Amino acid sequence: MTPLVPEARVRRSARPVTRRPAFVAALCAAALAVTGLTAAAPPEREVARAAAALPYQDPALPVPQRVEDLLGRMTLDDKLGQMTQIEKDALVPRSDLATYRIGSVLSGGDSTVSPNNAQTWADTYDSLQRTALSTPLGIPMIYGIDAVHGHNAVRGATLFPHNIGLGATRDPALVRRIGRAVAEEVAGTGIDWSFAPCLCVARNDRWGRTYESFGETPELPTAMTSFITGLQGDALGGDPASVLATAKHYLGDGGTTGGVDQGDTRLSEAELRAIHLPPFREAVERGVGSVMLSYSSWNGVRSHAHKYLVTDVLKGELGFTGFVVSDWAAVDQLDGQTGFTGAEIATAVNAGVDMVMVPHDYRKFLSLLRGEVGAGRIPLARVDDANRRILTKKFRLGLFERPLTDRSYTSTVGSAAHRTLARQAVRASQVLLKNEGGVLPLPKTGRLFVAGKSADDIGNQSGGWTVGWQGRSGPVTEGTTVLQGIRAAVADPSRVTYDRYGNGIDGGYTAAVAVVGETPYAEMRGDRPGDMGLDQEDLQTLARLEASGVPVVVVLVSGRPLDIADRLPDWKALLAAWLPGTEGGGVADVLFGDHAPTGKLPMTWMRGASQQPVNDGDGKSPLFPYGHGLTYGTEPGPDPDPEPSPAKACTATHRTVTSWPGGHQAEVTVKNTGTGPLTGWTIDWDLGGAAVTSLWNGTHSVANGRITVRNTSTNGTLAAGATTTFGYTANGGPGTPAPRCTPA
Ligand code: BGC
Ligand code: BGC
Repeated sequence: MTPLVPEARVRRSARPVTRRPAFVAALCAAALAVTGLTAAAPPEREVARAAAALPYQDPALPVPQRVEDLLGRMTLDDKLGQMTQIEKDALVPRSDLATYRIGSVLSGGDSTVSPNNAQTWADTYDSLQRTALSTPLGIPMIYGIDAVHGHNAVRGATLFPHNIGLGATRDPALVRRIGRAVAEEVAGTGIDWSFAPCLCVARNDRWGRTYESFGETPELPTAMTSFITGLQGDALGGDPASVLATAKHYLGDGGTTGGVDQGDTRLSEAELRAIHLPPFREAVERGVGSVMLSYSSWNGVRSHAHKYLVTDVLKGELGFTGFVVSDWAAVDQLDGQTGFTGAEIATAVNAGVDMVMVPHDYRKFLSLLRGEVGAGRIPLARVDDANRRILTKKFRLGLFERPLTDRSYTSTVGSAAHRTLARQAVRASQVLLKNEGGVLPLPKTGRLFVAGKSADDIGNQSGGWTVGWQGRSGPVTEGTTVLQGIRAAVADPSRVTYDRYGNGIDGGYTAAVAVVGETPYAEMRGDRPGDMGLDQEDLQTLARLEASGVPVVVVLVSGRPLDIADRLPDWKALLAAWLPGTEGGGVADVLFGDHAPTGKLPMTWMRGASQQPVNDGDGKSPLFPYGHGLTYGTEPGPDPDPEPSPAKACTATHRTVTSWPGGHQAEVTVKNTGTGPLTGWTIDWDLGGAAVTSLWNGTHSVANGRITVRNTSTNGTLAAGATTTFGYTANGGPGTPAPRCTPA
């Protein structure tokens, strides 16, 4: 393919545009292109006057009108470029971004900048953006990255618990605040778009991406789509830190046979819809800007070739108006051979892919795409539709008005406020699975022995997708390790002894804390088709601690439940810490009882690896059921002057968690006010015209404008005085519901 613009023009127009609206810059370029001038840019005033001439550059006009105006000015090459996304490091020379009119750049998991800090990322972004703006039409590029648990490619960023831990918090409002914090850090490096959240419903813990899932039931990922609202804000581009979100991976990525990454999900359509579709439906309702397809197949047909799922269901039935992006090199995998073919490209684009994550060989890709369009195998109408979808998001994000990094957010990367939020999330994500004899909380004045390969390792506790695709052990970024958190919590840090391998322990300690589990991994390499237990090092460390006779408290750092049933009798306590990220202080908060554990299992905990897949409601007998999680002895003491109360009674309290134009999210707390255990309940209230779109921790039905909610098998039994909650999202205003509780 011949370059579209003479080199000289590209270089000449790549000049600073900071503090000037992009449309002015674009206009300079457009003017130069039209007149063929080679002189320096015209004086600002002249340009500003001329700017009003082009409707697409006028922020006062409605977005659809700007899109149509721009589309009318674009050449076919401009349009094909918009459908192309390439890896930053594949761009050689950089001017190819303008030459080939590339619409989008990404950083893959191992793509970085040097030195790796927020400043350099922002500089890199701005320099690429200036190149994009130097084309005749000055269409800004959109830059995407996997900010999946914080802005994880950037050293020094705040890293939050991976999604599995966020699922354990059962707190969509907290997850929304995390989304907002991530958006600020991402915006502070200029980047416009995150490939998050993964709305995968992980059904088999052998899958290496299990930790990217909020939970194994459709309800949990559905509730946690609040992350999207956090990233994008109430309206996309409504504020300068708004970042485009991605619902991924559509559809059925977590349902593959054997938990094989990129495998085949063999389910009936009814099952696929019941288990894997609900989070995407909710994401679309929340206005998610993009959807990424899954490498996996549904009954043998790859998602990237699945016109029914992508065009009919997602864009048609669900009404998704954003754009669909393919996964990394997924289009070129369609025929099972390396290297693009025109047929693969036509299949994917005609199935409904709007933007192709190429990510390397963009010259070949573009020339094949052009060939397919030229031969009529990809209709021009499809190209225009893809462009409308992409350009609409670029306009809405404000990229035409604010193309460069808003440096006022750069200092939020790794800020104290974000780390405080992350620590809160860490403590809320801890799930206490065993606590024999009340060994936890630990006394702050005790003599403690800390051991285990993940006790003092920020890389291990952060997991995959941490300053590198697969993550790695060691001091990969800045933060607080679990050991540092423990030392900061105790009265006298000199009474804490640490040895990674457990060497040197004797019987004189109050307790031994073993921080063990999995080392970092990501997709593909993280699959565990064989054993799912602890490694030899961990087993030996634990054996040393157990031999001392000191009570052993195990903190498990892992991306999924592990096969530990055989070992459990030797441990006094077990705390599932998941992959907490950079704020290890949150683990210590729970260990020492500054905060009682509140996390609940987002995944059923297997009795043994051979039980996989094991999920809520499948009739198997797991080690710990979905929703299990202990807390410290907080049950209210006996009432000194008890009122005579009926044997069975309960109350329900409604609370609006958050609301947005046209919808809201709420939770209802059910309390057993009777004298004995309550084994089930029914709550009902008048919806006041609201329509419930999803509900978790309960089952519901609606009749005559009234909703009736019943407990699920896991939250039915409440001790006297105990409470449980369920939550829901709904269209319409929250109103003032007065729920009624009837004991079952
Ligand atoms: C992953 C995606 C990711 C993309 C870009 C793929 O390998 O499956 O989740 O967004 O790479 O890094
Ligand atoms: C990942 C990318 C990563 C690359 C490394 C892909 O599968 O999704 O993000 O950088 O592999 O080769």
